[in-house]
Amino acid sequence: MKANAGEIPIRDSTDGDMAAVRSIYAHHVQNGLASFEEVAPDPAEMARRRQAVLKGGFPFRVAELRGTVKGFAHAGPYRHRPAYRFSVENSIYVAPDALGLGLGRLLLADLIERCTALGHRQMIAIIGDSGNAASISLHANLGFREVGVIKSAGFKFGRWVDSVIMQRPLGDGGDSPPGDLRR
Ligand SMILES: CC(C)(COP(=O)(O)OP(=O)(O)OC[C@H]1O[C@@H](n2cnc3c(N)ncnc32)[C@H](O)[C@@H]1OP(=O)(O)O)[C@@H](O)C(=O)NCCC(=O)NCCS
Repeated sequence: MKANAGEIPIRDSTDGDMAAVRSIYAHHVQNGLASFEEVAPDPAEMARRRQAVLKGGFPFRVAELRGTVKGFAHAGPYRHRPAYRFSVENSIYVAPDALGLGLGRLLLADLIERCTALGHRQMIAIIGDSGNAASISLHANLGFREVGVIKSAGFKFGRWVDSVIMQRPLGDGGDSPPGDLRR
């Protein structure tokens, strides 16, 4: 059953959240195909990644359920060359004991809102595994459409894994020239 949105505050992450964030991510690295990492990053590496996200001016948000961090989402550059600067890639992970309660939807909606306000124009999701129904459906529900599948892009847990690429315009998308990025 979904939790009430009021029960799931979404807020900026802090250094103190990183143990919970790392443990959520480690679960999905070790047990799932969403991430193509095979060894979970250690806490120092996870903290370094958060700092890089913040330094780039991107949001790194967490969702709490009854006072405990149970999900996180952040944006980052889609690709690094300068002409890509109005396109962001997203990342969302929810703790295994909090799946299906509505955290993923709230986190992604929040990330879309924030990235739009910053002046970004496209959000891109690169989803590990064609069979990742939860992520594909979540993104479709929030206005993303599938723009391609890279077949057998990865090899994990002894099998080939596709990358599903989904895209959502932010604000005017490509219909007007961009403004300055506010970051
Ligand atoms: C994808 C993920 C973030 C969804 O988070 P969640 O909190 O469980 O999702 P929510 O409860 O907010 O559900 C939102 C929507 O997601 C979809 N969804 C969630 N779980 C689903 C499932 N098991 N099967 C199909 N669709 C599902 C539905 O569209 C749902 O909308 P609905 O409730 O109106 O049907 C979560 O499953 C997760 O962390 N997965 C592993 C990591 C991952 O794949 N991350 C995305 C990488 S880009």
